[in-house]
Parts: sequence; structure tokens; C-alpha cells
Amino acid sequence: MPTSKTVLAICGSTRAQSSNLNLIKAFAELAKGLFEVDIFTGLAKLPHFNPDLDTESPAPEVTAFRNQLKAADGILICTPEYAMGVPGSLKNAIDWTVSSMEFHQKPTALITASSVGQKGHLALLETLMVIEAKMIEESKLLIPFIKTKINAEGVITNSDTLNEVKTLIQSFSNLMINPTE
Ligand SMILES: Cc1cc2nc3c(=O)[nH]c(=O)nc-3n(C[C@H](O)[C@H](O)[C@H](O)COP(=O)(O)O)c2cc1C
Repeated sequence: MPTSKTVLAICGSTRAQSSNLNLIKAFAELAKGLFEVDIFTGLAKLPHFNPDLDTESPAPEVTAFRNQLKAADGILICTPEYAMGVPGSLKNAIDWTVSSMEFHQKPTALITASSVGQKGHLALLETLMVIEAKMIEESKLLIPFIKTKINAEGVITNSDTLNEVKTLIQSFSNLMINPTE
């Protein structure tokens, strides 16, 4: 049965032709009937995190980001690995949520789609654990060699990857419906 759940998707790459952005678009198509996906477009406009600026009235971009996170039933992060770690702009965005705790118990899915991606994936999982995002084993997916698995039209061309993404979508939908399970 269709639900009215909405997911905020954050792309860790700000590149115009990002394969992670294409993957989010494919994910949104495949999730139709289960939940809606809104794409966060403000990553590059967030100020550099500074605890001195993390006051009761932070920059409007930060407030808008936090409000979008709060309003979503779930969060999808789809990101490449940069230099064996998490892309700086994505980590910067997450740092803005540490004190305000938008990820706390929020159903969250992580797809690391990169050339290899393993170290960035593990580092980000540690961060998500520390900020108490609600995750299950099935809401984590590492997709290596991403550029060979999705085309510029946002079609997942690798059948194993397509099945993995579909399985994640179903598990993530269940997690949003029954977050206490
Ligand atoms: C500065 C930079 C560093 C990178 N470092 C890594 C890396 O450590 N591990 C990896 O798997 N891929 C690395 N890559 C390759 C990216 O994973 C690959 O380009 C990926 O497709 C980028 O995601 P996007 O298409 O969504 O922009 C790097 C790319 C750039 C631009």
C-alpha cells in the first residue's frame, strides 16, 4: 500500500554530472509507490562548520537544512569516497547536525557509490553511528565501480546493483514504517 513517507536525499558529490546524483534519481524512480524522494540542493551553500557560529540563530542555510532533515521521515545519503574518506562538503553538512541532533533515531540509508569506496563508507558509518542515525544492515550499501553501473540517463545498467538497490529500498521503506523494529 502506498505511504506518504518522504525521504530527503543528500548527494555527497556536488559535480553536475555526478553518478551519485544519477543514482539518487534512479532510486527515486524505483521507490515510487513506497515513498517520495526530495533531493537536498544546498550542500555547497552551507557555511564551513564553526562551533562559534553554531548558535541559536545560525546562518539561514543551516536552519533550512536542519528543517528539511527534521521534516523528512528518512534520510538517504549517496556519496563517493574522496581520498579514502568522506567528501568534505558532506562531512561539513553532517557536522552542522551534531548539536541539533536531526539524525537522532532518524531512519537513514547510506549508499557509497565510488570507484572503490570502502574506507569512506566505513568512516561515514562511524559518524552516523555516533550521531545515532537509525540504521539496519539492509540500509547500508557499497557500490564499487559506480561509473560502469549507471548511465548518464540515470538508469542502473548492472542487474546485481539494480537488485541491491531495490532490496535496500524495500528494507528502508519497512524501517520508516516500523522504526522501532
Ligand atoms: C578528488 C577525488 C578523489 C577521489 N578519491 C577516491 C577514493 O579515495 N576512492 C574512490 O573509490 N574513488 C575516489 N575518487 C573517484 C570517485 O569515486 C569517482 O570519480 C566517483 O564517480 C565520483 O562520484 P560522482 O560521480 O558522484 O561525482 C576520487 C575522485 C576525486 C575527484
